[in-house]
Amino acid sequence: MLVRKVHLQQRHPGDLRPARTPPEPAAVLRADQLSGDVPRALYHLIGRAHGWTARRCWDAHDWEQHHARPDREIWVARYRRAHVGFAELAVHGSDVQIKYLGLMRSFQGRGLGGQFLTEITRQAWRMHERVAGAPVVRRVVLTTSSLDGPSALSNYLARGYSVVDRTTARCRLPVPAGALYRVMARP
Ligand SMILES: CC(C)(COP(=O)(O)OP(=O)(O)OC[C@H]1O[C@@H](n2cnc3c(N)ncnc32)[C@H](O)[C@@H]1OP(=O)(O)O)[C@@H](O)C(=O)NCCC(=O)NCCS
Repeated sequence: MLVRKVHLQQRHPGDLRPARTPPEPAAVLRADQLSGDVPRALYHLIGRAHGWTARRCWDAHDWEQHHARPDREIWVARYRRAHVGFAELAVHGSDVQIKYLGLMRSFQGRGLGGQFLTEITRQAWRMHERVAGAPVVRRVVLTTSSLDGPSALSNYLARGYSVVDRTTARCRLPVPAGALYRVMARP
């Protein structure tokens, strides 16, 4: 399968064009304020539709070790009483990467994704204040792809990210469990 990728960046905190605040905004929380199961469940529930496969075999211990990394931050969006969004920031020198960002499907399209990206971008620009020894953030970067939702790219462009590069990659996505079962069940 051919996957089209778009690489984006902001080069200054002033590049951010904040989204309109929705009538009922989500709370955006650091994952370490929550039970470890919450981010793990959100990663799988949101990511399974978008090829987030890198952590599909991680157990609770792997997630614990990941949470302990000072150069990574997981953030969660909470709407009313539900945890609905997952985002992760990663420090790479003076770049901060938005490694993941997504909402549960039934909470998309009502203004929460724009608000979540606005808050995560603000946190990305300030990440050096929270990570000992990290250089001042010079760029916020991310990659979106044709595996992402239909409004992902327009959300990034609307928030002031600009396109740096476009690439393609040939990917072998894991076979869904149902398809594997059907193949194995054949006489
Ligand atoms: C991408 C995602 C976070 C956007 O969140 P959302 O709640 O659906 O979007 P919102 O309603 O807050 O709208 C935010 C922006 O998306 C764009 N957008 C919203 N609906 C759209 C549509 N139907 N078509 C095109 N763009 C649309 C607009 O640019 C909008 O910003 P604006 O209103 O300031 O112009 C969400 O759809 C999602 O989680 N998708 C699945 C995971 C994913 O693709 N993540 C991105 C990985 S890089």
